Amino acid sequence: MSLKLDRISLAYPNGYPAVNAVSCEIGRGERVAIIGPSGAGKTTLLRLLATALRPSAGSLGVLGADPWRLDRVTLRQLRSRIGMVHQAPPIPPRQRVVTAVLAGRLGQWPAWKGLLSLVYPVDIGGAEQMLSRMEIADKLFERCDRLSGGQLQRVGVARVLYQQPELILTDEPVSAVDPALSDRIVGELNREAIARSVTLVASLHAVDLALHWFPRIIGLRAGEILFDLPPVRVSDAMLKELYASESAQVPTQDNRPLEIVPTGIRRKPMYS
Ligand SMILES: Nc1ncnc2c1ncn2[C@@H]1O[C@H](COP(=O)(O)OP(=O)(O)O)[C@@H](O)[C@H]1O
Ligand SMILES: [Mg+2]
Repeated sequence: MSLKLDRISLAYPNGYPAVNAVSCEIGRGERVAIIGPSGAGKTTLLRLLATALRPSAGSLGVLGADPWRLDRVTLRQLRSRIGMVHQAPPIPPRQRVVTAVLAGRLGQWPAWKGLLSLVYPVDIGGAEQMLSRMEIADKLFERCDRLSGGQLQRVGVARVLYQQPELILTDEPVSAVDPALSDRIVGELNREAIARSVTLVASLHAVDLALHWFPRIIGLRAGEILFDLPPVRVSDAMLKELYASESAQVPTQDNRPLEIVPTGIRRKPMYS
């Protein structure tokens, strides 16, 4: 089991329960999309899974360990096996793209190699390969603070691909990327997870992307799981209920309506 959540809650200091007694199990190699309206608790849940936040109640198993019962060294080792892509990747100003990607393996490299890589990139070819999967290899030596939000997100994904973690967590990884490229990037994440049998948990704003790429969809609302189903069993009524608080329709890329084909399987709109 990659992830085991047993009545996990997280209350922020103001007492608001952003995640409320969530239980679920995610097996090794599973690919799960988390969808839900803004404020549902998607980011909080992913940060709990990444061991960046400590649950206020409940127990959590990550890659076979309870992170909050480990000593510091073992916890650091566990974290090096987890790859998290933030919605707005935290990258030091003036850092070059190549260095940002290579930083993915800092937790695995001996200290001397990590230090060296800050001064002189030790594996330019490896970084370039991951960037080309994100169609951004031309930015290899660009400074990160000169990139757009969407380009930075793609660097964040390239970094996690380079890291080769056992658990990939991504928080709205393509929220600033245009639809055709979003499809490509979410596809690459899925291909990576399949090829290496690693677990992938991604929160996504665009429901069409989630339904198209992921075999398991978790609908999160007000910190609780509303449904946990394969995409074919996620009905329009469930989606409407999930997004009831958002006055507009179910969010998709470009706000194009979900296309319902005769089999009942919803398809994402096609982008050329
Ligand atoms: N640092 C924080 N302090 C207090 N409340 C927070 C904090 N971060 C998020 N929240 C609240 O927790 C809830 C869940 O937020 P979040 O996990 O960011 O949801 P989502 O990613 O689905 O939009 C929201 O109501 C949000 O306002
Ligand atoms: Mg969020």
